[in-house]
Amino acid sequence: MKALVLAGGKGTRLRPLTHTSAKQLVPVANKPVLYYGLEAIREAGITDVGIVVGDTAQEVREAVGDGSAFGLDVTYIPQEAPLGLAHCVLIAREFLGDEPFVMYLGDNFLVGGIADLVNAFRGGGHDAQIMLTRVAEPQFYGVAELGRNGEIVGLEEKPAHPRSDLAIVGVYIFSPVIHEAVRAITPSARGELEITDAVKWLIDHGYRVHSHPVDGYWKDTGRLQDMLECNRIVLERVEPDIRGGVDGLSEIIGRVVVERGAVVENSILRGPIVVGADTKIISSYVGPFTSIGSRCVVANAEIDYSIVLDGSSVHGVSRISHSLIGRNVEVSRAAGVPNTHELMVGDHSRIQVGA
Ligand code: DAU
Repeated sequence: MKALVLAGGKGTRLRPLTHTSAKQLVPVANKPVLYYGLEAIREAGITDVGIVVGDTAQEVREAVGDGSAFGLDVTYIPQEAPLGLAHCVLIAREFLGDEPFVMYLGDNFLVGGIADLVNAFRGGGHDAQIMLTRVAEPQFYGVAELGRNGEIVGLEEKPAHPRSDLAIVGVYIFSPVIHEAVRAITPSARGELEITDAVKWLIDHGYRVHSHPVDGYWKDTGRLQDMLECNRIVLERVEPDIRGGVDGLSEIIGRVVVERGAVVENSILRGPIVVGADTKIISSYVGPFTSIGSRCVVANAEIDYSIVLDGSSVHGVSRISHSLIGRNVEVSRAAGVPNTHELMVGDHSRIQVGA
């Protein structure tokens, strides 16, 4: 079995972060989302992986290389434009050959890996397997409607009026019949070849499509709230590991990772937290479910339930919460001008100030 990982696309929902970088590389607990998917694929015993790349191809190639760091053999498949998930299968035809494959959306996160799902497919004699999970806002996903015996009776891509709350998770397993389906369908109203339509085509033509409920958490990491939740779930499982320097005035509570070269002085770190390499935390409070990237500075500040990407600084501000701070950002107190907010914010940003 092979795997096809989708790491092209536009990523408009997480902008402005994704104006400048691939959404699949946005870190969760200081590790790119895409890495978790690649690790799950390897754990399921799959080593032959095609990665579909678009505008951000260079960045994805730099992050993943030839795949050997993950125990994988990676082939890159350039897509000229984000023409849809089924289009990715079309252009990967040669790579995929005539064997079944896992299709993994590079911005999805599945806790618990995919080994059980792959094994279920291997033993199941189905033509395709999709995963479903209940979500609060099904209109943002592919949505399945199940019949009395759990069979799929309807599939719709981002319906305005969803018939159920069962979202299609971004991990699919297909036998080679999917190639016929992706050739048969036509672009949707949003101009994309939808994999949901291809799966529907399989069902309409009498193929056996199995749906698998996914237990535990999974997230499409395309939105801020999902990113923070995903970060929380991963942080809840991190093993404490202090490799940087923590002075005697600091207090470390719970699951805390302080990476190599990081310095913690006169601060309270209440886990779960990860602090990236060469970051300085000075006279600050860092609260639960926070990931601070590499080469950051947090000084005289309070922050919790947030993600701070590499090279950013937070000075003299309390308290930052529920926030995602991009790369090389400076957040500081406006000196000498009480009750004002001085901002220089990029396009498509969102700021909520306290008062
Ligand atoms: O996350 C699950 C959802 O993923 C499913 O419920 C939907 O049925 C499915 O259509 C898909 O919806 P999204 O609109 O969230 O897909 P998105 O455009 O975000 O693309 C998913 C991944 O595939 C992302 O890593 C970008 C990549 N991609 C996307 C397109 C459209 C490509 O590599 N090429 C593309 O042409």
